[in-house]
Amino acid sequence: MRRVLLLVATAFCLCVFVAADTQDERHEESLVLQVTKGNFNRTLRQHKQLLVLFYAPLSGEGRRVSEAFEGAAAELQGSEVKLAVIDATKEKDLAKDLNATTHPAIRLYLAGDKYNPAHCPLPQSSASIITWLTRRAGSVSDIIADLSLLEASEELTVVGFFEKLDHEYVQVFYSAAIELPDMNFVVTQNPEVITKYGRTHNVVLLIKKSKLIQAYKMMPQTSKEELIIFITVYQMDPVTEYTGETAAQILSSPVLNHALLFIKKSSADFVEIHSAFDSAALEFRLQILFVLVNVEESRNGRVMEYFQVRDFEAPLIRLVNMTDHVTYHLPSDSLDKETIKRFCQSYLDGNAKPKMRSEPIPKEWDKKPVKELVGMTLEKVAFNPNKTVFLLFYLPYSQESRALFPLWEELAKALKERENVVIARIDASANDIDMSMQGSYPSLCLFPALYSERVVVYTGKRKLTDLLTFIDEEMEKAKKERVKEDEERMKYMEAAEKAKDEL
Ligand SMILES: *[C@@H]1O[C@H](CO)[C@@H](O)[C@H](O)[C@H]1NC(C)=O
Ligand SMILES: *[C@@H]1O[C@H](CO)[C@@H](O)[C@H](O)[C@H]1NC(C)=O
Ligand SMILES: *[C@@H]1O[C@H](CO)[C@@H](O)[C@H](O)[C@H]1NC(C)=O
Ligand SMILES: *[C@@H]1O[C@H](CO)[C@@H](O)[C@H](O)[C@H]1NC(C)=O
Repeated sequence: MRRVLLLVATAFCLCVFVAADTQDERHEESLVLQVTKGNFNRTLRQHKQLLVLFYAPLSGEGRRVSEAFEGAAAELQGSEVKLAVIDATKEKDLAKDLNATTHPAIRLYLAGDKYNPAHCPLPQSSASIITWLTRRAGSVSDIIADLSLLEASEELTVVGFFEKLDHEYVQVFYSAAIELPDMNFVVTQNPEVITKYGRTHNVVLLIKKSKLIQAYKMMPQTSKEELIIFITVYQMDPVTEYTGETAAQILSSPVLNHALLFIKKSSADFVEIHSAFDSAALEFRLQILFVLVNVEESRNGRVMEYFQVRDFEAPLIRLVNMTDHVTYHLPSDSLDKETIKRFCQSYLDGNAKPKMRSEPIPKEWDKKPVKELVGMTLEKVAFNPNKTVFLLFYLPYSQESRALFPLWEELAKALKERENVVIARIDASANDIDMSMQGSYPSLCLFPALYSERVVVYTGKRKLTDLLTFIDEEMEKAKKERVKEDEERMKYMEAAEKAKDEL
């Protein structure tokens, strides 16, 4: 019996081998075609429906999408749609020629037309791709359903309640359904539904676990885009924590203004600040997406780097315009609801001041006793080895910072005659400071001459005499150490010379 089976298996293998061999296109055998510049034209001609994934195989996002893509290929085996991948890192010319400037991206090419592909939204799973294809090819009648089956679902269901099914509203609703393949869409005309949720017709309801989350009244001017914004915004909680799972949702949100709260979740004021952020979020829902970033989470390092936030600076709020990537810093010490709301409103009104890498160099910045540094002048002044520089890092909106200004003036005047000492200050909120400074602002840092790359943080009493003593002591210390180091270098040189002579 076993022998017979083996024989059959061998025969089968042979057949496949022969079949494959006789085909001039060996790659046609696989579920997903590998497309290159060389075979794109031919592949496009051969398949009436060609679904192409442009991706970078080494990127995390690329791998995730390509897994979903392969899953879809398996399910679509034998259908009219052929799936193909283009490695956008290798096929740069082809991707450019096809205007596929970002990846991963999925395009559906129909009837050999390379100019007008349909754009498939980036899928969460293989099911999203299938749903997208199905909805594209189908019609509203496919989503007319008995709501009772979905109402109690854990997942959000988008319900369109329409008076007439041939109305324009229904088309707008259905075109939104195509773009959001990860969500359940249902059309119903059942008046009981509407009575139950206390609405009238021509309304879109978001329902989760039989509870109405939000309702949207369709208007003659309502566009597909507006409806998509409404659905995607209310699908999310008012404040979304940034994590590996939510990142894609946040970054693909049609809301292009993001408010980010950087905070330590374990801090004592977390609950209070989070609640203020949450209440502010409710008032800007369709305009600003509110995101929480836990600075204690090491995986958030890249977001923090992007926004140039260091963990000791938390809690703080940044607003970013996702269109031009300009960021704005909330200029306040206290993060209460009113302050957050005012900041968001001033941003929307175009009145917020962007955060710069460096402020412009102020006129006559070195004419006053206290030198006013900015990002561009910081290193040149502080790291000058011929001067001892005492620098106040301050936040202009902080009471504690401002309280130090008179003392700093006093200190500068007291040291007016000493040319080798510079008293300076810098606005740490408006200038990027490229130093690993510990602690928080205001911060008093000394860069002693001869050892200017060394930063000595002052933690003593905030009194003139103490500051003066500190400067002198540190200058003396730096001088002594330099002498010692020079002596050691000298000894070493002498020893080296001696060794050379002896050779
Ligand atoms: C593919 O076809 C386009 C015209 O549609 C042509 O410009 C291009 O050179 C062709 N590419 C290859 C590799 O044959
Ligand atoms: C790419 O974009 C350019 C400029 O908009 C256009 O001329 C060209 O036809 C596009 N190519 C494709 C394949 O869509
Ligand atoms: C965001 O940036 C775009 C492009 O610069 C600009 O048109 C838009 O007004 C900005 N939005 C806000 C709220 O400043
Ligand atoms: C420091 O002083 C030395 C010797 O006078 C001079 O050559 C050097 O250019 C000075 N450095 C700076 C940054 O001013």
